Amino acid sequence: MGTLPANFKWGTATSAYQIEGAVSEDGRTDSVWDTFCRVPGAIDNGEVGDPACDHYHRMPQDVALMREIGLDVYRFSLAWPRIQPGGSGPGNDRGLDFYDRLVDELLAAGIDPWPTLFHWDLPQELEDAGGWPNRDTAYRFADYAELAYRRLGDRVTTWTTLNEPSVVTTHGYLSGVHAPGRKSLADAAAAAHHQLLGHGLAGARMRELAAQAGNPFELAITLNLGPATPETDAAEDHEAVRRADGFNNRLYMDPLWHKRYPADVVEDLAAQGVTIPVQDGDLEIIGAPIDALGINFYFGMQLSGRAEDGSILDADGAPVSRHVLQGRPQTAMDWEIMPDEFAKLLSRVGREYPGVPLYVTENGAAFADKPDEKGYVHDVDRAGYIADHIAAVAVARKEGADLRGYFAWSLFDNFEWAYGYDKRFGIVRVDFDTQQRTLKHSAHWYSETIRRVRGR
Ligand code: FCB
Repeated sequence: MGTLPANFKWGTATSAYQIEGAVSEDGRTDSVWDTFCRVPGAIDNGEVGDPACDHYHRMPQDVALMREIGLDVYRFSLAWPRIQPGGSGPGNDRGLDFYDRLVDELLAAGIDPWPTLFHWDLPQELEDAGGWPNRDTAYRFADYAELAYRRLGDRVTTWTTLNEPSVVTTHGYLSGVHAPGRKSLADAAAAAHHQLLGHGLAGARMRELAAQAGNPFELAITLNLGPATPETDAAEDHEAVRRADGFNNRLYMDPLWHKRYPADVVEDLAAQGVTIPVQDGDLEIIGAPIDALGINFYFGMQLSGRAEDGSILDADGAPVSRHVLQGRPQTAMDWEIMPDEFAKLLSRVGREYPGVPLYVTENGAAFADKPDEKGYVHDVDRAGYIADHIAAVAVARKEGADLRGYFAWSLFDNFEWAYGYDKRFGIVRVDFDTQQRTLKHSAHWYSETIRRVRGR
């Protein structure tokens, strides 16, 4: 890691719904995740995102832990239904006050606040009105961004619009394993476009306000980019890779960089009777310059274009895409560990989508932690995962990718969406019975690594 510069930024990441709790306090209304948690069978063990880490009530101690670890920057998300209950109308002062205090607490601790406006907790009322497949949601998002900016824009210097729009598209609207649990390719395609439109509209709105205030900021978006490799050299395996790369990666990167959707993805969708609902001027809005790209990475996939019985079309007549394990070590999520693919992915982004500074805004691993009687977890596996992926960042930098920071996912064990509390990603253990926080070995290791690279 000696190859990372002393000014490299070190952080951890969390998201509102996964840690805050207090879901009906101070005027917050339901998000799609509150609703989804009530669907029988949607979340493992019937768990819900409340109280999660009870961060809403323990924020000052939590910031003190970040300071102890020695973070430069903290990536968190703002809960839309806390700031603008119901997703429209005026801001909710009590909700905004919480983030106001968080930002001040971070700055007082010497930690740069790095908020994300949307990490999946769409106000339920907006889902009832059609959700992200409804174009109006993009305009609502810009209004919400304005409320957040007006309150925090004097102190926040980097704003991230969206977290992983492709996961909302594929899990929220196509496979339905995430909130709001819909299963429609047409809805998914519309959700992808309207999230990007929302990103562009919100960015433009905040830039306008920043110009008036003479207070510029850096605009970012976070994507989870999934590298795919073919199982064999067969044409259908390469096709499966092309389709996955198109739908998960290029569907977002190309409009942001080149103001157009990839022609092959548009064709793939058309073959299934689906059109991306683009209107005149949308791509200009989406493709306006950004100042930073956040990349989240956990794993890549090896794909085969054939089902186990050898067929290349599934029962619905759609081309087969089958995930084939490579036999690598796996995390508790059953995700294969592949820092080499991470390095290749980062180099590729640097090469094919140049010109914008890159940050790894999430990376980390769930393992089956075994705390001792004091709650201490000697998680050499997690520290090893993080070390190997930081090393991949250094490799990609050497190959020219302009990587400037790394955020470990996550600061805390937290509510891991459909998996509930069982999958622990934290470098800090949370005992969900007592809310006791205990730094794991990985947190101590991370802390030492940061100080070593920084040279103090
Ligand atoms: C990412 C999400 C984050 C967390 C990690 C494990 O896709 O952005 O909230 O759940 O996965």
